Amino acid sequence: MTVHGADSVDEAHAAGGRLVVGRSDIVTPLARERARDLGVEIVVDAGGTSPAAPPTPPPPASRLADPLPAAGSTPAIPRTATLFDSPPPATSPSPALHRRGAPLPPQVRIDRLIDDRAPGPAAEPVGRVTVVGAGNVGMITAMRLAESDRIDEVVLVDIAGDRAAGIALDITHASPLLGFSTRVRGVRTLAEAGVSEYVVITAGKARTPGMSRTDLVDTNAAIVGALTADAVATSPDAVLLIVTNPLDEMTQHAWQVSGLPTDRVIGMAGVLDSSRFEALSALAAGVHPDRVDAVALGSHGAEMVLPVSRATVAGRPITDVLPGPMIDELVDRARNSGAEVVGLLKSGSAFFAPGLSAARMVLAMIDQSDDVLAATVAPAGQYGITAGYVGLPVRLNRSGLAQIVEVPLSDAELAELRGAAASIAERVQALDTVGARPLDTVGARPLDTVGAR
Ligand code: 2OP
Repeated sequence: MTVHGADSVDEAHAAGGRLVVGRSDIVTPLARERARDLGVEIVVDAGGTSPAAPPTPPPPASRLADPLPAAGSTPAIPRTATLFDSPPPATSPSPALHRRGAPLPPQVRIDRLIDDRAPGPAAEPVGRVTVVGAGNVGMITAMRLAESDRIDEVVLVDIAGDRAAGIALDITHASPLLGFSTRVRGVRTLAEAGVSEYVVITAGKARTPGMSRTDLVDTNAAIVGALTADAVATSPDAVLLIVTNPLDEMTQHAWQVSGLPTDRVIGMAGVLDSSRFEALSALAAGVHPDRVDAVALGSHGAEMVLPVSRATVAGRPITDVLPGPMIDELVDRARNSGAEVVGLLKSGSAFFAPGLSAARMVLAMIDQSDDVLAATVAPAGQYGITAGYVGLPVRLNRSGLAQIVEVPLSDAELAELRGAAASIAERVQALDTVGARPLDTVGARPLDTVGAR
């Protein structure tokens, strides 16, 4: 028995003909959809056996064939096309895979409702992404980035002995399993990591049960401040993605220390919080998580704003699908999901969803995807906010923040969002150790033009 996926259809299409399958073979839904799209006929072979596989071309030269760099060395990153002669498609899986048995209309995502901008150009590979902090979150971020196979090298940085090198080697060992050829290296300092296009800062103390994100502020401000200075010294053109808690304050703190424009210092949390709400709502509604669309704004904490007016399940307002009290519970649970996981783990905090969220943001930048994601950014008057960093819907590009997207909100949601921005600003002021730096360093220019570099 052979399983025929979309690849088989592509091969049959390239050979200008039909896809001949054996009686007992399986043709995946994606393959059937691809066959329909390409006009490839699927024919069952009367003999009941699979046709001989066509000769496969020799595999492209793999980066893993290169000798592994010695720990601590900073190899030059070749950026020749030959390293990427078989880049994986940047497309998401067919929605047909998620539709089985679901009698609901096709999902309409929030970004499609807002703006019809064409997606960015096909993604060029990126040279180096550095992930600082080889704790659980950094580890998952690095693995997902490596697995995406869109980056020449992912470097993990951690001051703790050879931990980063050990995890980097472990991830490298998984490359045949996951099918990637990204080089993964682990070092102790940002200088050893080398010049990077993106630096993801996950390092910091994690919460323990009963501790709020804000309790972490002083310790983590010192860590994030020092790492930001190192990151900018090594990689002055990088985009910084801050993941360390308390997220909103640490993002603004990093921006203050960095001296960079606001569009190159952004924080990850809205992607995580949106995902949590979507996951919980999908369970409640009994639908595939991909069919829930919601965006979490405000702070990554008590002032998280989940605009119910924007949330949909299978393209329908969530309020038409789930009862009001249940939606309130879901909002509350999403807001407290971080603490819920901390309480269950007893030591340390969540890492799968946070690590994958950080990687999702880096990949959105690399791919210049047209997706609207929630991120912690500094608005220049959008939503009537100029107070400082806060979670908003955005588009990202290679240079960081491309555009803050203004979606319609109810009056109450808008008031909550402005309140969240004001509360974050108060906390940032209390924390301010490097003096006030005016947030208007990008001037009054629209952010989507400032983003181009
Ligand atoms: C969380 O919400 C770690 O802040 C992160 O789980």
